[in-house]
Amino acid sequence: MDVLGFYPMWYVPVVGSGFVIAIIAAIHVMASHTSVGASILLAYLATKAYRENQPQIYDYIKKYLLGLLVFSYVSGSITGPGIWFSATVVNPRGISALIHNFVWVWAAEWVWFIAEVTLVYILFYTLGKIDQKSWLRLAWTFAISSWATMYIIVGILSFMLSPGHEKWFTTGSILDAFYNKNYFPHLLERTSYMFAIAGTVGLAIAALMKKDLPEKVYKDIVKTLSYWGIGGIVFGLMFFAWYVSTLPERSHVILEKVIPLYLKLPIMLIILVVLAHFVLAAVRPQAVRFWMAYPIYALIFFMGVYPEEKIRETIRKPYVAGEFVWVNQIISRDVPAKGIKSEVPVIDQKGLLTVNPFVPEGLKKINSQNEIMAGKAIAILQCSGCHNVTGSTGLRPFGQKFAGMTDPNAVYGFLTSYLRDNHPPYMPKLVGTDEEIKALSAYIAHMISKGGSVSAKIEVPNTSAEAKKEVQP
Ligand code: HEC
Repeated sequence: MDVLGFYPMWYVPVVGSGFVIAIIAAIHVMASHTSVGASILLAYLATKAYRENQPQIYDYIKKYLLGLLVFSYVSGSITGPGIWFSATVVNPRGISALIHNFVWVWAAEWVWFIAEVTLVYILFYTLGKIDQKSWLRLAWTFAISSWATMYIIVGILSFMLSPGHEKWFTTGSILDAFYNKNYFPHLLERTSYMFAIAGTVGLAIAALMKKDLPEKVYKDIVKTLSYWGIGGIVFGLMFFAWYVSTLPERSHVILEKVIPLYLKLPIMLIILVVLAHFVLAAVRPQAVRFWMAYPIYALIFFMGVYPEEKIRETIRKPYVAGEFVWVNQIISRDVPAKGIKSEVPVIDQKGLLTVNPFVPEGLKKINSQNEIMAGKAIAILQCSGCHNVTGSTGLRPFGQKFAGMTDPNAVYGFLTSYLRDNHPPYMPKLVGTDEEIKALSAYIAHMISKGGSVSAKIEVPNTSAEAKKEVQP
């Protein structure tokens, strides 16, 4: 076996290709949690309107549904496929590993998703035009379909972090993969917080309609949303504690040692702000203001959802899926149930440049002329999933991590002892032949001596006999 099934590599300098997914995914999470939370809150409010005979609540529901349609569903439906497109180019093997496990689970998710999207339109356009009881049934079907999409996706997301138990590697069973150790706490935590997210938008919409609604109806709506919001936060915190207790050992190390305070602190702050906002609204519904509720909703994105998603992605490292595919797409362990073999021994013996079919011919055999370029190619292939390997800004930049190391031998010593023989839990083992590690060292020493920043381009020295002939006049 001389070639392993790698795909072309997409290198995004400075921020890293993973950031492209991260930003699309964070927007998607915001939109989806808003709409899933809202689907249940609105079904509940509609039931209340029906039982207590308060038809004006439907005016509010209609406004909220329109907001969902125009904002959540448009941004959600654009970013959903966006995650697919970006993940497919950023990490084709990661997504492939997931598809090979979860293809039917995903198919089921799409069925629920189509039901959800169809129903949000039907609900909006039939409100007030069909009898209340039928509309209520549709509203609850919408709520169940919306939550079902979350029920399914969370199984895949938590499997990415860890199958949670050794069993799956030998059974390969879809249920062992799906109902992994942190599935339920993860699902329940998201389910709780989504009420706080949807409730905050709900308060913004209620504030906009304050003048149009009878005081009692307005107060009723605001109080209901606030109670759900407060409950969401309290339960969310409880389920978060449970979630943390189910994390694998390496994730605990990463949470403590690698995740900076500037990611953790905003989350705690925004939880307090949202909670205080709900308490205020519950006690004094008239005090709710659009200019307060809406910015809080926006802050939930920047201080809550974005850092939370980033942390979740980081504690998954060094893996991208199921504790057998590293972020750099190398298969790192055997999965007997799937007939998957670790690629590490082959790569260590033959070299990563040799077995990757997309490495240019001129870089496969390392010599004094192509050594630095070969080293750069290795850095891009093995390290760029988590580092800016050509600069000193952005994602854990090499320019900073290796600052001062201009001697290739010193870099080599560091790489072999620290990354190959005894790698920290958040990084994959450095793989490849000794010659390749020397080339990587030469490249790193070179980029540091150039001030920590070089072009991201791979240039293949033209040294073949053919090429020499061509240049001769
Ligand atoms: C799966 C992600 C990932 C990959 C792939 C990865 N690293 Fe890292 N690396 C990290 C994380 C996380 C840190 C922790 C420090 C931080 O967050 O700034 C780190 C830190 C480092 C450090 C600083 C020492 C330390 O432990 O804090 C060096 C040097 C380094 N990496 C080199 C490399 C090299 C060389 C490669 C490629 C062979 C590589 N890394 C691949 C995630 C990764």
